[in-house]
Amino acid sequence: MKIAITGSDGQLGRALTRVLETQHQVIALPRPEFDITDRANIARLAELAPEVVIQCAAMTDVDGAARDPVAAFRVNAFGAQNVALACQRCDAALVYISTNEVFDGNKPTPYLEFDAPNPVNAYGKSKLAGEWYVQHLLEKFYVVRTAWLYGKGGGKFPDKILELAARQPVLDVVRDEIGSPTYVPDLADALAQLVLTEQYGVYHLVNAGSCSRYEWAVEILRMADMPRPVKPITRAEYSRASTPPPNGALENFAAATVLNIQLRSWQAALAAYFRE
Ligand SMILES: NC(=O)c1ccc[n+]([C@@H]2O[C@H](COP(=O)([O-])OP(=O)(O)OC[C@H]3O[C@@H](n4cnc5c(N)ncnc54)[C@H](OP(=O)(O)O)[C@@H]3O)[C@@H](O)[C@H]2O)c1
Repeated sequence: MKIAITGSDGQLGRALTRVLETQHQVIALPRPEFDITDRANIARLAELAPEVVIQCAAMTDVDGAARDPVAAFRVNAFGAQNVALACQRCDAALVYISTNEVFDGNKPTPYLEFDAPNPVNAYGKSKLAGEWYVQHLLEKFYVVRTAWLYGKGGGKFPDKILELAARQPVLDVVRDEIGSPTYVPDLADALAQLVLTEQYGVYHLVNAGSCSRYEWAVEILRMADMPRPVKPITRAEYSRASTPPPNGALENFAAATVLNIQLRSWQAALAAYFRE
């Protein structure tokens, strides 16, 4: 298949390019050469005539989005609109990567694909607006919500914990924010399976299980063999611009049940991250 990837220089875009180019013709569309907010790129993308577009481009700085919501909407909502319009023109299927932050986090158990979104921060609102455009403009779409992505060289939570552990005797980590840590290569493999199915719809693709930031940090330090005391703190004690949903855990219900696409546990994935 001919598959175009927007935001192909991001952590997920890079992993997807690696996985997909072994079996498909991949058109990598990194920024700045391909900015999804530029409406001229609607025609440009349509002319490339991909069969599938994977929309990884996004403003992912959650705190930046809280400080400048219009910037977040410009990329995550109106940029997604542009990509959806390009797919409409060339009859491509669109994979829109979305987030656990479309939920308010008040559900006591992990969110299923059918739970009602109700974002509580600008990032979540802008990503949900992107979902809305995709679902209203297209018939052939996969909306894939994921969470707490990390991978090699991504500079995300595990890297930050290890950096902090290298210079601080004690780490303060939030205990009342729950999520589903997801290893980017595992997500890329699952997406590679999903795009072959033509079973369009909404999916939650995350490593199985969930934990708090505190539990995740403890496990990272244990696996990295860097024993450090970790002090559990509350979200209220950790000052940041954005308000994350308290429970952002997702359950992969649809893809596991219908397509048998399952991701290993977050602990097994974290062990693989350290091995690889
Ligand atoms: N990271 C997470 O924990 C997480 C969790 C849930 C969902 N997601 C979603 O997963 C997807 C991939 O995230 P990621 O972790 O790979 O993020 P990432 O590493 O920040 O990659 C995002 C990419 O999008 C590019 N980009 C930003 N604005 C753009 C624009 N206007 N036009 C074109 N490209 C633009 C960025 O380029 P620059 O480097 O030039 O800014 C970057 O290459 C996103 O849709 C994100 O919302 C991420």
